[in-house]
Amino acid sequence: MIGRLNHIAIAVPDLDAATAQYRDTLGAEVSAPQSLPEHGVTVVFVNLPNTKLELLEPLGEGSPIAGFLEKNPAGGMHHICFEVEDIAAAAAKLTADGARVLGDGQPRTGAHGLPVLFLHPKDFNGTLIELEQAETGPR
Ligand code: CO
Repeated sequence: MIGRLNHIAIAVPDLDAATAQYRDTLGAEVSAPQSLPEHGVTVVFVNLPNTKLELLEPLGEGSPIAGFLEKNPAGGMHHICFEVEDIAAAAAKLTADGARVLGDGQPRTGAHGLPVLFLHPKDFNGTLIELEQAETGPR
């Protein structure tokens, strides 16, 4: 079911500093910041030859990554994102197999304008997993 690794997300306490580090010290191409109020984060994407990194900074009150950064003040790996061809079919299979889809269980529009959902980390070896509808899948 899962396809390409779309991105690895890292929560950061200071997005400008993290952007400068990836761009200037590590020599990567970093996108402009994108505010996603409905997800409570501001993101940039670090474009690598074979995948992307998503650097996340909290945005607004009650950001879903605020608690994570309290526990990990220096930042840390927050989630990994795999592409799936059909996110509705993926959600149905995961739920039938007993995995917990976070939120109301319905895909939401993610940072790339494509439907995404998140799976409970306790069901996947302590790793928060994001699934994103592949560009080629049903829309
Ligand atoms: Co993500």
